[in-house]
Amino acid sequence: MLSVHVLAGPMVMGAVSSVLAPDPEVQLDTRTNNVREAVNLRLGSDDVLLIDDLLLAQAPGLVASIKGVPCRKILVGRVADPDAARRALVLEAVNMVDPDRLSEDLLEVLKSLVQPATVTDPWVGVVYSAKGGVGKSTVALNLAWALAIQSDHDVALMDADPLGDIGAMIQDKPGATLIDVARGLAAGMSEEKALSSLYRVKPLGLTVVPAAPSPQDAQKISMEEFETVLRLLAASHPYVVVDVATGLTDLNLIAMDQATEIIVLTAPERVTLGTVKRAVEVLKRLYPNKLALLLNRADSDTGVGVREVEQELSVPVQYVLPSGGSAPVRATNRGRPLVLADAKNTLARAITAIAQEIVGGREGTRRRPRRWFAH
Ligand SMILES: Nc1ncnc2c1ncn2[C@@H]1O[C@H](COP(=O)(O)OP(=O)(O)O)[C@@H](O)[C@H]1O
Ligand SMILES: [Mg+2]
Repeated sequence: MLSVHVLAGPMVMGAVSSVLAPDPEVQLDTRTNNVREAVNLRLGSDDVLLIDDLLLAQAPGLVASIKGVPCRKILVGRVADPDAARRALVLEAVNMVDPDRLSEDLLEVLKSLVQPATVTDPWVGVVYSAKGGVGKSTVALNLAWALAIQSDHDVALMDADPLGDIGAMIQDKPGATLIDVARGLAAGMSEEKALSSLYRVKPLGLTVVPAAPSPQDAQKISMEEFETVLRLLAASHPYVVVDVATGLTDLNLIAMDQATEIIVLTAPERVTLGTVKRAVEVLKRLYPNKLALLLNRADSDTGVGVREVEQELSVPVQYVLPSGGSAPVRATNRGRPLVLADAKNTLARAITAIAQEIVGGREGTRRRPRRWFAH
C-alpha cells in the first residue's frame, strides 16, 4: 500500500482525488493546500508527497523547506515550463506529472515507485561439473545475464575457476578481479570501495568478478579471503552465480557451502557421465538438498538421453539445455553473452527459461522482464 499525501490547490486536488480514490493499492492520506502545513508533515522515506506547482510558484521562499521533508516528491506541474522544471530539480522530485495528464499518468508514475517484491535470502547458484568443457562457463555467464534481465534485483557473477575465462568472454574490459578484491578487503579496504571497483553492467544491475589474470595468482587466494568476497557479494546481490573449477577443491566446497543450488552439468556421453557420477556420489552425501542436475546438449544424437542419465547418476535431471550450434562460440568471439548476442537462439531461450523459473520461485509469479537492455 502506497501512502500518498497531497499539497494542492482545488483544481489539482480534485483531479488527484478522483484518480486515486478508487485505487485499492494507494492510500490517500493528508490533503492540504497550505504549504507550511506540508512542511511540518511527519513523513517517512516510503511516503509520497504530491506537490501542486502552482502553490510553489506562489511561495518560492518555501521550496527549500518542502525539499527538506524526508519523503519522495512528485511535482504536478508543466514539464515544458522551465521554472516548474527548475523547481522539480530543487525539490529533487522523483518525477513530474503534467496537471492535464493526471488521469493518464499519475497512477503509472506512483506504481513505478513501489519497490519490487523483496528477496530475503540471496539465491546463490554454483555451476559445477567434474569434467571440463561441458559448458559451465557458458551456462554461468548466460544464466547471470538472463537473471539480471528477468529480475529487478542485483545479480553478481563470480568466476571462481582459477583457469576461468569469464573475463575474456565479455567484451568490455572487466574491472577488479577476484584476487584484487580479496587482497583489498584483507588490507582494510571498505566493502563499498571493493564493490565499486568491480565491473558493473549498470542498466542490468549486474556485477562481474573475473578470475585473477593468471592461474598462479588465482591460487594465491586464501580460503578465508574467498569466503569473505563471496559473502560480500551475497550480502549485496540477491542473486549470485559462481562458476567453479572441475575438482572438489576446498575453494569449491566453500562456494557449495554457501550455495542455494549446486547446478551440476553433464553431457549425454558415457565417459562424461562416468566422471560426473563419482563427483555426484560425494555431493549427494554432502549436499543432498542442493543438487540440480543439468543435462547440456541434451538434443545431441548420442544414444544417451535424459532417462539414461537419471538412471546412471540416480539423480533427477532438473534442467535440460539443447545444443546452441556454433552460436555460443560466435557470441564469445564477439565478446558478448549469447542471451544478448542472439536472444532467439534455442540455447539462449532455454537458459532464459531457467532464469525465469529461478526468479519466479524467488519473487512469486512469473515476471515479465523489466529491463530491456539494448547494447
Ligand atoms: N549447449 C551448447 N551448445 C553449443 N555449444 C556449447 C554448449 N555448451 C557449451 N558449448 C561450447 O562448448 C565449449 C566449452 O564450453 P565452456 O562453457 O567453456 O565449458 P567449461 O566452462 O565447462 O569448460 C565452448 O566453446 C562453448 O561455447
Ligand atoms: Mg569454464
